[in-house]
Amino acid sequence: MNILITGTSSGIGNSLAREYLEKGDRVFGISRNFSDSLKKYADYHHLSHDLSVHAELEQRLRQLLNGTNALDRVILSAGVLPAINDMRDTSMEEIRRVMDVNVWANKMLLDALFKLIPQIHQVVAISSGASRSGARGWNVYAISKAALNSLVRLYADEIPETHFSAMAPGVVETGMQDYIFSLPDDERFPVVNRLKEMKRKKQMKDPREAAADLIGAMEIAMQRESGSYIDVREL
Ligand SMILES: NC(=O)c1ccc[n+]([C@@H]2O[C@H](COP(=O)([O-])OP(=O)(O)OC[C@H]3O[C@@H](n4cnc5c(N)ncnc54)[C@H](OP(=O)(O)O)[C@@H]3O)[C@@H](O)[C@H]2O)c1
Repeated sequence: MNILITGTSSGIGNSLAREYLEKGDRVFGISRNFSDSLKKYADYHHLSHDLSVHAELEQRLRQLLNGTNALDRVILSAGVLPAINDMRDTSMEEIRRVMDVNVWANKMLLDALFKLIPQIHQVVAISSGASRSGARGWNVYAISKAALNSLVRLYADEIPETHFSAMAPGVVETGMQDYIFSLPDDERFPVVNRLKEMKRKKQMKDPREAAADLIGAMEIAMQRESGSYIDVREL
């Protein structure tokens, strides 16, 4: 299979890439950094790119894909978590930065890919339970993931030849959770305290386990209506 994954330098995107490469698939990865863990794979092709910068994206993608005319899966995993804070304490600059990476970068990437690649079988955007719960403190992250779910739904109707879904991976022990763990207890943000407790009790999935679950869920997603939101914990 030919798979394109964003956010391959760490966490979930990195584990997904390695999972596919170990199975013998070809992976095209995009992130600003190029992880050493992927350098040994001949079938891994990397583009070091800041997805919030749109200049030359199409040209750089063309070089990366080098004549590939079909993608079996596009997985949009790149994302950022802003400082946990109340909405009223979050600046417009921060809001724009997070929306640019978590939402608009995906729109720009999909538009460029659909121009370049005649056949794209499935697109999966990595969303979050926060897109539905909107818990206090998650501020623009929750908004960006709710917007991502909506973006996926809109593309599903526009491009019926491709199957789209937005998928929440559950709680996964990556750099994002390390940041949450580093925060002081704060009664305003009970979810932070709950996540810290989960990490202490080793109740989080490790990224490899999460990647295997997501790959299984991506098969199941094909049976659901295109544009659906799927939480892997509910399958
Ligand atoms: N961990 C969880 O519990 C959890 C739960 C729900 C949803 N998610 C979602 O899962 C996805 C992956 O997160 P993770 O936990 O694996 O976090 P992570 O380890 O921090 O990975 C984030 C990835 O996104 C890439 N990225 C960030 N900004 C970028 C930019 N401007 N251009 C290109 N790439 C960029 C990073 O690469 P570079 O820094 O090298 O660019 C990195 O590879 C995110 O969408 C996140 O919202 C995670």
